[in-house]
Amino acid sequence: MKDSIVLTNIGELATPLGRAAQKGADMRRLNIVKDAIIVIDEGIIVYAGPREGKGCREALDKARRREVLVVDAQKRACVPGFIDSHTHFLFAGFRVDEFFWRAEGQSYMEIHNRGGGISRTMEATRKASFEELLELGKNRLDRMLSFGITTVEGKSGYGLDRDTEIRQLEVMAALDSSQPIDIVPTYLGPHAVPPEFTGRASDYIDYVIDQVLPEVASRRLAAFADIFCEEGVFDIDDSQRYLEAAATLGLGLKIHADEIVGIGGAGLAASLKAASADHLLKASRDDLAKMARAGVIAVCLPLTAFTLGEPCADARAMIDSGLALALASDLNPGSCYSQSIPLIFALATLYMKLSFAETLTALTLNGAAALGLAFRTGSLEPGKAGDLIVLDAPEAAHLAYQVGMNLVALTVKNGKIVYRK
Ligand code: NIG
Ligand code: FE
Repeated sequence: MKDSIVLTNIGELATPLGRAAQKGADMRRLNIVKDAIIVIDEGIIVYAGPREGKGCREALDKARRREVLVVDAQKRACVPGFIDSHTHFLFAGFRVDEFFWRAEGQSYMEIHNRGGGISRTMEATRKASFEELLELGKNRLDRMLSFGITTVEGKSGYGLDRDTEIRQLEVMAALDSSQPIDIVPTYLGPHAVPPEFTGRASDYIDYVIDQVLPEVASRRLAAFADIFCEEGVFDIDDSQRYLEAAATLGLGLKIHADEIVGIGGAGLAASLKAASADHLLKASRDDLAKMARAGVIAVCLPLTAFTLGEPCADARAMIDSGLALALASDLNPGSCYSQSIPLIFALATLYMKLSFAETLTALTLNGAAALGLAFRTGSLEPGKAGDLIVLDAPEAAHLAYQVGMNLVALTVKNGKIVYRK
């Protein structure tokens, strides 16, 4: 692998710009350049713009001081690598039967309440060894590269006990250093009440705060703490207590908020100035307005709504009210066994009524911002990481137009080619 890479003959470069989330109407502003070139030196973009634009020659001279790989993009389009800012990608076992039960009309919570759902994945994950989880994770990450994902958030939450939760986070650390995709780990101990604490959700939160969170924080095993704040799972008071404890230990905050019943999770995210509140299918307008004022990013997960047979979150209203929106997959074995970026483009455009620019921004720069990484990735401009995709299409908007098709021809991470179709 070469230290420098130059992508020439790019038919269209399409990218949001900036080092923070774009909010509201600003999500519609893309930098679109025809006949573009990108120069990456030692993994960092030093030029991204028109061929022979200002600074292009200097950047090329700089790159040429090293061994440089020149890639002819053959007039195809180029966009930033996708940032999947909400996943539960590390799990053992499957729940195929639940998928069909739900298709026949049973609800997610019905299945959860009778001991199915997260508990079943917990049982399988507790039994899985470090090596088994590593292998499962590696295979899923390989597929992510083929979808053009260059940064992914991964949550624990399928052990619930200390040992398995820590193992999940340790496996993510091992995966982060052994393959190209950047993994941002999130501790999600309070994903469900484990069998050891049946009927005692608050006692389980005490256990998490006393026995697990301090170790997660001191060993820097997670960047964020998250909780499934939901009617019949963890209420607002327990969620607040847990998230405040996590913040005190220096973790960033995320919350599964108002997914099935609107109980005020979005409002809690605003009052705690969380990095993001996720799902938000039933969030109130009032709480969303509070999120906008507090600078909390709204992460919508249309693949989950689709899989659960629910209408997608009202992302149109969120952007129109000035929020910064990110879109992510929620890949998990229960509510959404999909990480199809092409399907997200289709749902966002056709069902959430987002423009192409808004969708691209939500899957790149704003996803990075939801992970605290917008200073480093999520857009194609000098100073950012060389994380990008070349598409098998002349214009970036084909990502939506060619419905459900995976157009990724080449994925580049930190200036290295990591996937080729
Ligand atoms: O985000 N809702 C809670 N957590 C996941 C589902 C996890 C599972 O069912 O395994 C979600 O949808
Ligand atoms: Fe989730």
